[in-house]
Amino acid sequence: MATEGYDLGLVGLGVMGRNFLLNVADHGFSAAGYDLDRAKVQQLNSERSREHKILATEKLGDFVAALRRPRAVMLLVPAGNPVDSVIADLRPLLDAGDVIIDAGNSHFRDTDRRAGALAKSGLHFMGMGVSGGEAGARHGPSIMPGGPREAYTRVEPLLTAAAAQVDGEPCVIHLGPGSAGHYVKMVHNGIEYGLMQLIAESYDLLHRGLGLEVDELHRTYAGWNEGEMAGYLMEITAAIFTRRDDRTGEPLIDVIEDAARQKGTGKWTSWDAMDLQVPTPTIDAAVTARNLSALKEERTQAADRLPDPAPSFSGKSGPEPDRIRRALHTAMLLTYVQGMALLQRASAERDYDLDLAAVARIWRGGCIIRSATLEPIRRAFREEPRVPNLLHTKTFADMVASGQDALREVVCAAARGGFPVPALAASLSYLDGYRAARLPANLIQAQRDYFGSHTYERIDDEGTFHTEWRD
Ligand code: 6PG
Repeated sequence: MATEGYDLGLVGLGVMGRNFLLNVADHGFSAAGYDLDRAKVQQLNSERSREHKILATEKLGDFVAALRRPRAVMLLVPAGNPVDSVIADLRPLLDAGDVIIDAGNSHFRDTDRRAGALAKSGLHFMGMGVSGGEAGARHGPSIMPGGPREAYTRVEPLLTAAAAQVDGEPCVIHLGPGSAGHYVKMVHNGIEYGLMQLIAESYDLLHRGLGLEVDELHRTYAGWNEGEMAGYLMEITAAIFTRRDDRTGEPLIDVIEDAARQKGTGKWTSWDAMDLQVPTPTIDAAVTARNLSALKEERTQAADRLPDPAPSFSGKSGPEPDRIRRALHTAMLLTYVQGMALLQRASAERDYDLDLAAVARIWRGGCIIRSATLEPIRRAFREEPRVPNLLHTKTFADMVASGQDALREVVCAAARGGFPVPALAASLSYLDGYRAARLPANLIQAQRDYFGSHTYERIDDEGTFHTEWRD
């Protein structure tokens, strides 16, 4: 068996692929990059240093032939059809035992389908989440691999070297079989949507509500980025308020359109949570809020027609910024809680056998949702690995209990002032629903039985019952 050849092949030399390849090469591994686009191949050649062992080519045959056997080929191409078409091109050139690693944001069901199809030719397929954007790919992302352990073991040294490091530990671990890696990345993104929407709602209350301008907003979020709320999204939020627009000299944030786009991973998280009947209302609200924001024209017309409530929210009647901070922190905790509960259920349903302490560990660095909250999450799952919901742990119950008054106060003030806070409100209702020993779902059961004879359960007996309600 040949021992020469490049350690890794990477298909897709867009900015993520190029940066990941350079990162791997920085750590002494040899890597071959392939892209049909000559400009991208040239760009890689211009960015590589003399120490790097890199081959860049637009010829697929040369690329595959250059790889050490058994080959490891990583794909960093857009999710969806491009992944299938690259696999179709590669398949005849690869041999049994080679591994293809899809490092894009593919849907986990596509990953299972592709793994099944490739297994027939003896090819291994790994679905691998990579988080951290362009800078992460270049200097250390959080890496979420899933698939055959045997295939992972082969690329482990390379991934361990390329990943972000926190306290001497790499932010990568083999998460589980099949689509475990892409599933964990999807939920990472669902949490990302929730946290981003919550921070956006706090910004609305501080800026439109309390009248804070960019300098004060910068100072506020920079202050919040210290201690228990420290995290990447808080850090970039503080930085965003310092940027001026090159064209107008205005704060850049003020000239950016208020309609958010999305590629779909947040929506997939909500879909699968609905399929598994796991409540993730903060993530659902965040997806809906992006959809609502996109209705810019309709909103602008409705703004003229639908009056503001009176009295409106103002600096004097609004909550103190520190109450908004506490409300935001509590809702952010509840977002992680929902995401982890979804992972716990999905792990059991889909046989991923996830170690949630390890998931929290590899999210502590490199990824978009890295924050000070991941360490208590990690500790909680270390102590109680199978706890269905972090709210059953003393740490999280205490943290949420101490912040709930602020969350209530802020949601009430926002509602009175007419400020949309769907994610803050959803987080609060999640908490109130989860801690309710009795919910009004008895009435839903009765209604279903009334109109459709769907039967109901009783509190004092086993089995299902039906009543002839109209008699
Ligand atoms: C990450 C990001 C990354 C990407 C998002 C954007 O972890 O590095 O999540 O994967 O930027 O997919 O998602 P939307 O376009 O849906 O906001």
